[in-house]
Amino acid sequence: MPAGLIIGLRGVDLGVPDVAAHVRFYIDTWRLSIAAERNGSVYLRGTGAYHHILALHPRERPGLLCINLAAANRSAVDALHARVTAAGVQQCDAPAPLIEPGGGYGFSFVDPEGRVLRVIAGDARHPDAGAQPDRPQKITHLVLNTPRQEAAAAFWVEALGFEISDRSLLTFVRCDSDHHNIAFHPGDASTLHHIAFEMDGIDSVMRGAGRMRDAGHPIEWGLGRHGPGNNVFAYFVGPDDFVIEYTAEVEKVDASYRVREPKDWAYPPGHSDLWGATPPPSARMKAAQKKIGFAAGPFRP
Ligand SMILES: [Fe+2]
Repeated sequence: MPAGLIIGLRGVDLGVPDVAAHVRFYIDTWRLSIAAERNGSVYLRGTGAYHHILALHPRERPGLLCINLAAANRSAVDALHARVTAAGVQQCDAPAPLIEPGGGYGFSFVDPEGRVLRVIAGDARHPDAGAQPDRPQKITHLVLNTPRQEAAAAFWVEALGFEISDRSLLTFVRCDSDHHNIAFHPGDASTLHHIAFEMDGIDSVMRGAGRMRDAGHPIEWGLGRHGPGNNVFAYFVGPDDFVIEYTAEVEKVDASYRVREPKDWAYPPGHSDLWGATPPPSARMKAAQKKIGFAAGPFRP
């Protein structure tokens, strides 16, 4: 596990035109729960300890407003602020108490490719209910498109203390014992590729896929098992074309993990995962995976 100052991926803030529709979907079908509501925004939690993992804010257009990273404590927040500032980041708030449900102490900044991030410590936590059938526990990773894959990963490693886990078509980095919390996918612009929610096992992934099918969101890729991370996956196009993944059995790694290269992860022709049973990703999903951009400037809810 990295000895960094960041200890986890807490979640994301999304902007959406119809918050109520998203809330219905994320509660009834995706199986998150409401943690709080404030000023038209709704904060949803998983079964894990984070106060909330997905916050929905009313905005004219769908977008990714902020990626939230959990720091070890207040002094880690201050140390990360110094590191981010020293890395030459142009837009960065000073650390301060956060005025939002869950609270805490943190700062927002914009990384070199326009991603809006927050580093937070001291926020409220729930008793951790752990893995529960049919309910996401947490957001285990985000995949981000980038035109500068190695430079993007280098900033997260050097400024934020993440470690490289693997390189395939993607570059995978981690801040805790999950194989990856962030992965960088080659793309024309800095956009969101997908958001992955961790389930307690394959049965929950598949029952979730059944709920999604009933709700008009069929599997777009899967059921499969990834090479890097060894996780089972099913991908969907959710409301407003956010691409979301149910995943399970994410590999746990530590400092002894050996970083592998793209040649180590080559699949046989026609296969897109370790099993070889799933068709390739749908054209619909591949188009959606380029549509969601980042909001401009530091996040101030
Ligand atoms: Fe994923």
